[in-house]
Amino acid sequence: MQGLYIHIPFCVSKCVYCDFASFAGIRRLRNPYLEALKRELALQKKHYRNFNPKTLYIGGGTPSFLTAAQIKILFNSIYSCYKNFKEITFEANPESLTLSKIRLLKKLGVNRLSLGLQSTFDEHLKTIGRAHNYAQFLRTYTQAKKYFNNINVDLIAGLPNQTLTDFEQSVKQLIALKPQHISVYGLQVEVSTPLYKSGYECDDNLTRKMLESAENILQNAGFIHYEISNFSLPKYESKHNINYWQGGAYLGCGSAAASYMRGVRFQNTDDVKEYIKSLVQNKIPIVFKEKLCGKAKVGEEILLKFRLLKGFKPTQKMLKCFRKEFEILLDKKLIIKENKKFKLSEEGKYFANNVFRYFVEPF
Ligand SMILES: C[S@@+](CC[C@H](N)C(=O)[O-])C[C@H]1O[C@@H](n2cnc3c(N)ncnc32)[C@H](O)[C@@H]1O
Ligand code: SF4
Repeated sequence: MQGLYIHIPFCVSKCVYCDFASFAGIRRLRNPYLEALKRELALQKKHYRNFNPKTLYIGGGTPSFLTAAQIKILFNSIYSCYKNFKEITFEANPESLTLSKIRLLKKLGVNRLSLGLQSTFDEHLKTIGRAHNYAQFLRTYTQAKKYFNNINVDLIAGLPNQTLTDFEQSVKQLIALKPQHISVYGLQVEVSTPLYKSGYECDDNLTRKMLESAENILQNAGFIHYEISNFSLPKYESKHNINYWQGGAYLGCGSAAASYMRGVRFQNTDDVKEYIKSLVQNKIPIVFKEKLCGKAKVGEEILLKFRLLKGFKPTQKMLKCFRKEFEILLDKKLIIKENKKFKLSEEGKYFANNVFRYFVEPF
């Protein structure tokens, strides 16, 4: 399968934990950015003539921070290049997803919404700098539910002042709202963020307990834990993200967007002004490009496949390149072998990076 990702780097305000390529205070760049995106899409359409994406993911940043008129422009640009999508996901935040935008997205063909909530506790939302409270989320979610039957909601475990009971309550409150998909991320305290600079240190043991508890609660409620951070009701897995994890091709357009096309990984500049300036001259501002081959390519494939918790049957090539590493990881009980498939063990799910590092250079 093939997927198309569109990055929208604008946010109402910047959350204290976030080091994604997203910015507050540059809303005036939204129109020129959309013009640049249109150019990039047209250039890539000419370049990759046989590219036929079946999934579209509009992420950010905060795509719902675009105005209704801007959302229409965005979809016109996409649909003038690509049309046959099976799944179209649009990321949205409660403070900017109005009823008229919900209706518009439905009309434009969006069939999956992904809403950022993080916690159902206003005190947590305030501490982490979210631009919405829980009541606002509930209003937006209830409206969205009338138009969409495939909704994901994001939660974070390990937030400042969040107890295990708080977190469990958030999970339960969310389940009661009956979304089809829930993503649960363990908080990453990234060096560049105000959260890190505030000196906050995440209690890894507590976060792990939260993630274990989320898995229990969600599985008892009928959710399938199909990827390290992702749970869905049967048949509601994210097709777009599964394509990433299966090593499929994807094209990313927009600032900071990453792509994997014809065995080559590349990424655009994350500088929004630079991105716009470059596309005014019809040049795609690629700042990183790498052709994966040999052992590195096989390692990348293994690492991605481990993210999917059902596991995978190793190919002869995988075994030839990484037999020793598989043995070490089995020995450390970070992975297990079941019915000829390798998969992350219970321990491995929480220390996945300790597994992944065996498959990236230097090996
Ligand atoms: C690409 S972000 C954008 C989504 C949307 N703008 C929002 O904030 O709701 C997707 C999700 O990543 C998660 N996330 C972002 N930064 C994180 C961090 N440092 N640690 C854990 N999860 C994080 C949040 O749950 C967020 O909703
Ligand atoms: S709204 Fe989303 S993308 Fe924007 S700063 Fe917050 S977490 Fe990051």
